[in-house]
Amino acid sequence: MSGCERIMADIESLKQITDGRGTTRVGFTETYRKGSDCFRKSMEQAGLKVREDSIGNLYGLLEGEDKDAPVILSGSHLDTVINAGAYDGIAGAVCALEAARMIKDNGVKLRHSYEVIATNEEEGTGFRQSLLGSMFVTGDLTEDDTDKFRNVEGKTLKEVLPGFRAKDAVPALRSKDEVKAFLELHIEQGPVLETAGKDIGIVSSITAIAWMTVTITGFAGHAGTVPMPLRQDPMTGACRLIDTISAHTLENYANTAVLTVGRFGLEPGSSNTIPAKCVFTIDLRSEQMEIVQILIDYIRKTAAEVAEKFKLEIDVNLESLRDPISMDLGLRGLIRQSCDELGYSSHEMFSGAGHDAMIFAKQWPTAMIFIPCYRGISHSPDEYVEPEAIIKGAKVLYETILKVDKQ
Ligand code: GLV
Ligand code: MN
Ligand code: MN
Repeated sequence: MSGCERIMADIESLKQITDGRGTTRVGFTETYRKGSDCFRKSMEQAGLKVREDSIGNLYGLLEGEDKDAPVILSGSHLDTVINAGAYDGIAGAVCALEAARMIKDNGVKLRHSYEVIATNEEEGTGFRQSLLGSMFVTGDLTEDDTDKFRNVEGKTLKEVLPGFRAKDAVPALRSKDEVKAFLELHIEQGPVLETAGKDIGIVSSITAIAWMTVTITGFAGHAGTVPMPLRQDPMTGACRLIDTISAHTLENYANTAVLTVGRFGLEPGSSNTIPAKCVFTIDLRSEQMEIVQILIDYIRKTAAEVAEKFKLEIDVNLESLRDPISMDLGLRGLIRQSCDELGYSSHEMFSGAGHDAMIFAKQWPTAMIFIPCYRGISHSPDEYVEPEAIIKGAKVLYETILKVDKQ
């Protein structure tokens, strides 16, 4: 099989492991376990030494000549959002594995060990905490934190972990001096590269991200009998709040911030009952942390005004706030050099999506290789990447690993 065929076969196998809608493989579920086992098999077939850590991140090691030298790490996540495509995260894990196969096939002897990583629960779909797997690797989270996160069934990570954890799991925590560099290949998830006709994106920095849950409590009642002026309807308050903050973001930060309400629920949920409660999420991002802070303050202020006007209780809970982070300049230069040598066009760009790289960059020199995807579609079953685009990415990753190894 050619490298391209191997990559596409791995992607196709993982695509089939789904909970139903598109590719749905949420972290810490049985389906995730099946996906992880499938990737483990591919890594073992490639002759890598496979281990799993205590949080379900998977590693495949190709030993280098100097076993005491720090490892060169590459990979991405295997979990998905609900009704996802087959490439987000997966392309990065599979290309990291392909780079290992290229190293072996070409008889290259690396000085540093090379390690493939496939992370669990990067998306935060299961436990409302994105980048969860990688945060255990850097020590941003520890086992003591596992009772802080709950999945949709109300179970904490602490309760779910024992049933999920591999029997021979190694500790997740990696120290600063254990890793020489982290390289993450990822699909762009936007239209910039395709529109510009560029082969490879070199990420300059990754966005700041705030996640909030807004809970609005009102008073339930009969839809036919309670006059409008006497209601405490959380739905009315939610609409006013969402419309006000969305319009404000669009009017003042059209090109510098994005705000999304992706989950919205009403209780008890009968068409002839005024709801008692409304819960929705806000995902807020900008390249500049100051703008995120200004908008969080604006959301809180508007929530207080809406609460007063509609006689509601509104709680705005900031669940996570991540700083924007720059990618390593030296590694970006090596990626560019690899592109030039391979004759591929490249383009420096900002990432509006979050990635494991934003956690690892706090600890190790880190960089990202983006590949174009069809019309920039992502977080959708319509996500598609040309096989030629993926193999180009894998080759750039491989060449960059060789360059890092020589440093
Ligand atoms: C991950 O896909 C994110 O950017 O939320
Ligand atoms: Mn994603
Ligand atoms: Mn991703």
